[in-house]
Order: sequence, then structure tokens, then C-alpha cells
Amino acid sequence: MDYQNIKAEQKDSLLYVTINRAEKLNALNKATLLELADVFSGVTLNEEIRGVILTGAGEKAFVAGADISEFAQYTVEEGEQLSRTGHADVFDAIENCPKPVIAAINGFALGGGLELAMACHIRIAADTAKLGLPEVTLGLIPGYGGTQRLTQLVGKGRAFEMIATADMISASKAEEIGLVNYCVPAAALLQKAEELFQKILLRAPLAVAAAITATNAAVKKDVDGFEVEIKEFGSCFGTADFKEGVNAFLEKRKPRFNGK
Ligand code: COA
Repeated sequence: MDYQNIKAEQKDSLLYVTINRAEKLNALNKATLLELADVFSGVTLNEEIRGVILTGAGEKAFVAGADISEFAQYTVEEGEQLSRTGHADVFDAIENCPKPVIAAINGFALGGGLELAMACHIRIAADTAKLGLPEVTLGLIPGYGGTQRLTQLVGKGRAFEMIATADMISASKAEEIGLVNYCVPAAALLQKAEELFQKILLRAPLAVAAAITATNAAVKKDVDGFEVEIKEFGSCFGTADFKEGVNAFLEKRKPRFNGK
């Protein structure tokens, strides 16, 4: 698929995905969502890619929300469909991606933009970024998982306050309440994401994937997270990486994992 709204550039084992509609503050129109769905299904299948850094083009915005101009005339049914498809094809797909996805929040992360960042496994924000869920100003609520993921990350009281007031918060406040893992100077944003990957890439890829599955299960209501952990823990014993990790420890050397 040729991308018109995102850029996907592989450097070594990392894929840098940039939402590339800076003139519209990287708002998520349907075409962008289709391209994101496509790029993330490729990430899952591509053995060379070990992780993704997701960011926005330009200095102003990560993503300023869903593209408001596209749903202005929607009916109840079309609204529900927009949300359902977005959840399945993009937001849940990112959360369930077996390779870690780090959101590098370079500016406004509003509405669907903050929801996109919250679907990622780790969030790092530039100190210039502003984060919020302003949907109620449009007569809507967040529809790409925002009511659930924000509540999981910061607790119900803070989540409701952000959603009901529509207030934006600073990156440092977001770090204080656990909405982002780190708030860093804007110039150091990608470097911080790469630094985290320098560590993650040394670890056993299948164990990292199992950790994603198990930590995701902790916040899914329809699954027993402890049971998921038990199964994932057990399946790690069937991997060559487990044997390599244990042998390397016993032989006092660094492990060489190959994701098998
Ligand atoms: N959907 C569609 N277009 C959007 C957009 C969105 N969510 N956010 C920004 N844009 C467009 C603007 O319409 C404008 O386009 P134009 O130049 O063709 O008029 C362009 O991006 C620049 O935005 P602008 O509003 O002029 O920038 P600003 O610096 O004055 O304000 C924001 C920045 C982020 C405060 C403002 O754009 C905003 O409130 N955006 C909507 C945020 C939102 O409600 N998101 C939730 C959607 S569900």
C-alpha cells in the first residue's frame, strides 16, 4: 500500500511511523486510519521489525483528534460504526501489537490523538505538548477507547474531570498523573524513545510479546489476567530464547536472542 497520510521508515529494527498531515495538525481522517491499520498489520508480520515509534509531523501536533470535517453529518448508526471500526482496526490493533509501540508526543495530543497515544504501550511527551479529550465541546464523548484507557491510566476521578471539563493538561502534569511515562525537552523526544528501545531490543522478543499480552489482560474485563499470565509464562519455556537466556546466565555471558 502506498501511504499518502503517514510516513513509515525502517531504521535497523525500528519502524518510525509519522502521521503526516501537518497542515491539518495530523487529524485522523479515514484514509489515515486505513493506512495506520495497514502499517500495524505489517509490523506484526515483519520479523525484522522489533518495535515502533509513533509520532506526528511538524512541531505543533502529535494528532489534534479525529478529523471533525468528516463526521459532521453522521447519523447514530454511522457514528457507532466509525467508533467500532476504529477500535478494531487501529486502536486495539496497536494495543495488541506483539512488538512494543512507543508514542512520541511532539505537540497537541487531543481527542483521537490522545486516544492513539493511549493505545500505545509507552508514552513520552515533549515538554511543549498539550494533552486532552475535548470531545464534549463538540457534543460527543471519546469514541476510540478514551473513556476506558484514560480511566485505566489515571483513575476514574481524574479521567472524568479531563473528559467533562475538556481541559488540556501540560506534558509535565501528564507525567505527574501517570498519563505519560516521561516528559522530556522537545529536542530530546525521539532520543528518549530510542534509549528505551536500546534496552528493550536486548531482551527476548517473545518474552516481550508475552509481557504485552499479559499486561493488556490486566485491564480487559472479559479475561482472567492471572490465567493469561500463567499460560504466557508457561509458553515462554517452549522458546529457544528461554534456553539461551538461562544458558547465558549460567555461563556468565550476555544472551543472544533470536526471537524463536
Ligand atoms: N479535525 C479536522 N481539522 C482539524 C482538526 C481536527 N480535529 N484539528 C485541527 N484541524 C485543522 C484546522 O481546521 C485548520 O485547518 P485550516 O487551516 O484548513 O482551517 C488546521 O488544522 C490548523 O488548525 P487551527 O485550529 O487553525 O490551529 P490553532 O493553532 O488555532 O488551534 C487547536 C489548534 C488544536 C487548539 C485546534 O485546531 C483545535 O481545537 N482542534 C480540534 C481539537 C479537537 O476538538 N479534537 C477532538 C476531535 S473529536
